[in-house]
Amino acid sequence: MYKMSKAPLLTAVQIQERIEALAAQIAPCDFDVILSVLTGGFMFTTDLCRHIATPKLQVAFIKASSYGNSTESSGELKISGLKHLNIRGKKVLVIDDILDSGNTMKELVHKLADFGAKELKTCVLLNKPARRAVDFNVDFVGFDIENKFVVGYGLDYANDYRTLPEIWTLEEA
Ligand code: IMP
Ligand code: MG
Repeated sequence: MYKMSKAPLLTAVQIQERIEALAAQIAPCDFDVILSVLTGGFMFTTDLCRHIATPKLQVAFIKASSYGNSTESSGELKISGLKHLNIRGKKVLVIDDILDSGNTMKELVHKLADFGAKELKTCVLLNKPARRAVDFNVDFVGFDIENKFVVGYGLDYANDYRTLPEIWTLEEA
């Protein structure tokens, strides 16, 4: 059994302030498409997009899942939604909730290489450098955090906790 930490690791205000700063960094890069990785990336994507207000920025979604109902990755990654993805010749920013082992982003970027994007960059809200198992350099990071399982703001444990506006640590009860 797990329970939420007594106080949030990151408050809603901290998250929103950081997102505004990130958006200011990202906006001048003139991406054509934001490619959001569901389900965890949904809240980060919407809040970030609100601050990159330009008529020509498109948004697309794909789904990646590897976790099942545990706090450890099952190791097997499923990616769906690639079939109708059109990013040929475009500048693309891939957005996910968190970079943990790095497997998801690394495999995703590898798969997307066949789709002919002009440029492919990556952005995560959270980064756990201590957990990295593969060599992967992410381009934009919201927060570096320590090696703890976190939930809220899109991130789940067995699909719960996603709608919380803060990030919480999950501890064994
Ligand atoms: P990676 O492939 O190990 O980098 O893991 C990436 C995916 O695992 C993320 O997109 C999340 O969906 C999930 N994940 C990793 N760490 C956490 C966490 O602390 N809380 C919730 N989900 C996590
Ligand atoms: Mg995910």
